[in-house]
Amino acid sequence: MTMIPHSKPAIGPDDIRVMTEVLRSGQVAQGPAVAQFERGMAAYLGLQGGVAVNSGTVAIELALRALGVGAGDNIILPSYVCSAPWLAVQRVGAQARIVDIDPETYNLDPQRVRKARTSRTRAVIVPHMFGLPADLTGLQSLGIPLIEDCAQTLGATEQGRSVGTVGILTVCSFYATKLLCTGEGGMVLSNDADLLERVRALREYDKAPSLDGAAFNCKMTDLQGAMGIAQLNRLGLFLDQRAALAALYRESLPAELFTLPAVPSGRTHSYYRFVVRLPKGLQSADEFTAYLSRVSHRGVQCRKPVFRPLHRYLELCDFPASDEADTSAVSLPIYPSLTEVEIKQAAQVLREELP
Ligand SMILES: Cc1ncc(COP(=O)(O)O)c(C=O)c1O
Repeated sequence: MTMIPHSKPAIGPDDIRVMTEVLRSGQVAQGPAVAQFERGMAAYLGLQGGVAVNSGTVAIELALRALGVGAGDNIILPSYVCSAPWLAVQRVGAQARIVDIDPETYNLDPQRVRKARTSRTRAVIVPHMFGLPADLTGLQSLGIPLIEDCAQTLGATEQGRSVGTVGILTVCSFYATKLLCTGEGGMVLSNDADLLERVRALREYDKAPSLDGAAFNCKMTDLQGAMGIAQLNRLGLFLDQRAALAALYRESLPAELFTLPAVPSGRTHSYYRFVVRLPKGLQSADEFTAYLSRVSHRGVQCRKPVFRPLHRYLELCDFPASDEADTSAVSLPIYPSLTEVEIKQAAQVLREELP
């Protein structure tokens, strides 16, 4: 039996060629390829510039530092997300205020953000989850600076605006499973030249104006930069392939059994993940785990889309939408090289293993 993996990077001959060229050049550390990748990402989003770093987590931390966020400040973020944004807030010495999500979209709920804000709220970290833009219009109306976290979403739009173009700062991740991958990597992008300059000074120790300890070494290498450019050239193709695969899943999975991903009007989806909800009968933790294991034994690797919601780590209560997502949402395999036959096979196994 061949296993259908949950994620697979789209690595092609172009990636191998450009990385080989970098190796041959001898310029492997941060250099012209990183600078070109930064310009390419900024042009893709229509922003003034970008600063490449070695991970999405670091990109969030440097974005917060550039805004001068520190002790006494608080930052709002959703519970239903990986721990990276929470850890970045901790590292700059600020307090994270965790809020519940909108159950339909898995994204931040602006009403809950409004209730959580205090006079010390400096920004909201807005992860666009699984490829679907958050309600940027609703969040913007609150008047709090937004840091858009595009680790999972590029190329999708909300009210005609691309994700990553609305916040004061935007962060990306180029981890191996992401829409655009450089193995590890991240970027901070903005239209604000001063903020970008501050991020640049923090990424490299001898570029910092002082020895205050915030500057570090979190540079991207030219090997990654070159791969980033090659991937960016194919990003449109990758997104088209993902959209076609998502449409196939929608045809192959009965909507009366699986709740398919919502796409509210005015938004488009880039299908970083194809997340479905299981029927009510499977939503006890044991049933859910047993189902995932049965499906996996039949060669289809599915995952919980968020390893553990933040409020569970923090032992906080009253996050009903995150709790429900945690026990009913399943992420199915989706990546450019997935085939129609594999989608049909995955859909069949998912149906057959329902109790
Ligand atoms: C929404 C979100 N933000 C930030 C990160 C952190 O990115 P990285 O793994 O590159 O540090 C991730 C994880 O990949 C993520 O999903």
